[in-house]
Amino acid sequence: MRLAAPAVEVLDQTMLPQREVWLRIETVAAMCEAIAALRVRGAPLLGICGAAGMALAGEERGTTDGALRAAAEEISATRPTAVELSWGARVAMHAALAEADEPGARRARLWQFAGDHMERRKREDLALARHGAALLPEGAAVLTHCNTGALATGGIGTALGVIRVAHAEGRLAHCYATETRPLLQGARLTAWELARAGIPASLLPDTAAAALIASGRIQAVITGADRIAMNGDSANKIGTYGLAVVAARHGVPFYIAAPWTTIDAGCDSGREIPIEFRPDEEVGGFGGQRWSPEGLGAYNPAFDVTPGELVSAIITEAGVARAPYGSSLAELVAQP
Ligand code: MRU
Repeated sequence: MRLAAPAVEVLDQTMLPQREVWLRIETVAAMCEAIAALRVRGAPLLGICGAAGMALAGEERGTTDGALRAAAEEISATRPTAVELSWGARVAMHAALAEADEPGARRARLWQFAGDHMERRKREDLALARHGAALLPEGAAVLTHCNTGALATGGIGTALGVIRVAHAEGRLAHCYATETRPLLQGARLTAWELARAGIPASLLPDTAAAALIASGRIQAVITGADRIAMNGDSANKIGTYGLAVVAARHGVPFYIAAPWTTIDAGCDSGREIPIEFRPDEEVGGFGGQRWSPEGLGAYNPAFDVTPGELVSAIITEAGVARAPYGSSLAELVAQP
C-alpha cells in the first residue's frame, strides 16, 4: 500500500499473479469495497487499511467526532474476524480525536498515524521473523497455509516472514504451501511470493496436507492468525484447525506467527471470536466461472478457530509465547 494523500494506492490482490494492478482509492466506500472483495487482505495489512481508511474519511467526510466514529464503525464491520481492521480504525480515530477540534490538525494526524503504523509493521515483521526462524531446526521443511507474506502485512510477512528469514539464514530446506481454497491465496499469492524470493517450494491441494504431515517430511506447520484470544485460541484461514489437529496427531509442532495487534485482550476464548462467512459463489466457482449447479448453496466460513492446546507456540515481534497462554499472552500485551 502507498499513502498518497488525499488518496491511497493498493495492489489489487484479486488480479495476482497474472496482473499487477494498482488501484487509487479516494473514499471510505471504495476502501470498504476493496476490503470486502479481498483486493486488500491479510490481517496486518487490514490494520493498515483501517488506519488509512480513517485518513480517507477525514478528507471525504470531515473530522467531527460523529463523522470519524461513523467511519470507524463502517470500516470495522467490513470484515469481522480480523481484529486488526477495527484496531487500526479505532486507534487512528482516537489519535485524531485527541487533537484540537480543527480539521487540518485532525486530518494531518490521521495520515501521520497511518504512515507510522506502516513503518512500525515493517520493523515488527522483521523482529517476529527472527524469533520464529530460531525455532526451526536446521534443514527444516515447513508447511504453511493461506498467504502471510509481504502482501498480507506490508512488511516481510508473519509466517512467510519466518520462512523467508530461515531461508536467508540457510536453515530452510523446503516450503510446502497449500493452495487454500476457495480463494486460492496460497496458489496465487504465496506461490508468487515464494517464487520471487527464490525459496524452494511446492504447492499442494489442501486435501493433501494431512498425508504430507503424516509422511514425516515436514518439521513444522506455521501459519498466521486473524485474532488470538487470551487463552491462545487462534482464528485463521479456514482449514488451519484441521492442520493443527493432524500436526498434533503426528507430533509435528504447530506455530502461529502474528503481531501483538492480533492478540485481542478483550476476548477470553475462541468462542467469542466472530467468524466471517462469505458468499456461496466463492465455493461454486472461481474468477467468474461457475462449475457447480446454479442455486446450490454452500458452507463457506472464511476462518476457523484452532484451540490454544494445539498451538505449540505463538510467535510475535515481542517474543515467543507458550502455554499456559493465559499468563504468557497477558505478559506480551502488557509490554509497552
Ligand atoms: O481471507 P484472508 O485472505 O484475508 O485470510 C488471511 C489469513 O487467514 C491469514 O493467514 C491471516 O490474515 C494472517 S496474514 C499475515
